[in-house]
Amino acid sequence: MSPAVTIEFVPFDAAAKPAQGAAEGAPSVLVAFAGDDLALSATTREFLGSAVGRYERAAAAANFKGKNGSAVDILAPEALGFDRLLVMGTGRAAKKDAVEDTLPDHAGLGGALMGRLGRGVRATVMFDLPDPPADPSAAAAELALGIELRAYRFDVYRTKKKDEGERDGPVHVTIAVADPAAARTAREKRAGLAEGVALARSLVNEPPNVLYPESFAERAKELAKLDVEVEVLDDEAMRKLGMGALLGVGQGSDRPSRLVVMRWDGANGQGDKKPVAFVGKGVTFDTGGISIKPAAGMEDMKGDMAGAACVVGLMHALAARKAKVNAIGAIGLVENMPGGKAQRPGDIVKSMSGQTIEIINTDAEGRLVLADVLWYIQDKYKPAFMVDLATLTGAIMVALGQEHAGLFSNNDELADRLIKAGKETGEKVWRLPLGPAYDKLIDSKFADMKNTGGRHGGSITAAQFLQRFVNKVPWAHLDIAGTGMGSLANDINQSWGSGWGVRLLDRLVADNYEER
Ligand code: BES
Ligand code: MN
Ligand code: ZN
Repeated sequence: MSPAVTIEFVPFDAAAKPAQGAAEGAPSVLVAFAGDDLALSATTREFLGSAVGRYERAAAAANFKGKNGSAVDILAPEALGFDRLLVMGTGRAAKKDAVEDTLPDHAGLGGALMGRLGRGVRATVMFDLPDPPADPSAAAAELALGIELRAYRFDVYRTKKKDEGERDGPVHVTIAVADPAAARTAREKRAGLAEGVALARSLVNEPPNVLYPESFAERAKELAKLDVEVEVLDDEAMRKLGMGALLGVGQGSDRPSRLVVMRWDGANGQGDKKPVAFVGKGVTFDTGGISIKPAAGMEDMKGDMAGAACVVGLMHALAARKAKVNAIGAIGLVENMPGGKAQRPGDIVKSMSGQTIEIINTDAEGRLVLADVLWYIQDKYKPAFMVDLATLTGAIMVALGQEHAGLFSNNDELADRLIKAGKETGEKVWRLPLGPAYDKLIDSKFADMKNTGGRHGGSITAAQFLQRFVNKVPWAHLDIAGTGMGSLANDINQSWGSGWGVRLLDRLVADNYEER
């Protein structure tokens, strides 16, 4: 995939003329920022010179109030040397920064900016906010990240242009900042993050005839180019390990199942230090199995591997920036199909842990997959913690909508760290309870447990089920059915598959688990 956008940092005095070279011949745009009082910073005013008057007239005529996300987009006066002048409102973003110590939403500002720019342009951004951020270099790097995230498109399967009138072509963005070297350093810390998110999004967006357990495993293997060690277990290997819960889900499909374990050893002393572990549900298509789903919207179940996609995108991000941490990413890949060999309601399967499970509903398959993967990872790698991600229950959308992912954890410190990273990245999580009274709801008449808990608290009983496969290790479960796919479009994401969780977990690692 050739990048849709290239970004570089330059000092303010180098911004006077549109950048040559990249995207040459494309229309040039000068981008400036105004606060909610319409004020431009002194540097920007000076830079714009006589164009300030034109901007002020246009702002008045367009009733532009400098609100965050709004903009005036005008033909630049000849003397400016650019074709367009785009003034973006920062209103609230600037205010928020003044109040809170954490990074404000500069990624969102970059995303909104990218949305206004469109394709096939050369932009020069005067990153000189009317309300200067505490750390301008980090803010500039976040702006760049937002631009990249917004530029993502999934159009590999389009043979025709959607809109003939739309300008196309790559975008080149030159960001003028006070300290370009510091901005570059800040950006290096985010190297590969936009790529990791894009990778996760694309995996979710891919159709299920293209992305199935084997082909997904092949895509994960490509991480080897970043020195991630990738191991793939097939049905036979999993049978030997006793993974009856995972294999039971896959047995109705003609496509064999896979378990992929990715390892990034970035800590000093490499493999010595306990790894952190991420586990993803990778149901490449969920028909429901014999407990088949209704037809309406079933196509969305190609996204039932968003947890696994996030884990692959995260491993990409960690390896690309050479994170000083040992990390394991494990994904259980199956296709849940009805068929002559499919498992039935009433079947009893034996998990790798030795515990038996009565299948009540074959559509509660994600927890069966995760049960074996969680057990395998904690047993084999003795991780410092495990975080799993899964599009596990429709019930989580009833509870939280699409704004927060559900968080369940046996460890307050890990939960609090996830909540904090969520606030910092905008990938928010909301903690829900676990407890023995809920756990009782999955006791079975015939086996150690059953795979559904009845009508009430569906997301909680699903989490209780997972917890039965977690021993003493700190663990958190993120139910991303509402956030990982079918996402609401926002400033930094217009894609159906959102890549949710890559930035959250990258931040969790960076804030808490990396050597300095
Ligand atoms: N993959 C689904 C959950 C889901 C639903 C994800 C909608 C994204 C959007 C999961 O495997 C499932 O079918 N869960 C059932 C559980 C029930 C049978 C206990 C559900 O939520 O209805
Ligand atoms: Mn299901
Ligand atoms: Zn599912």
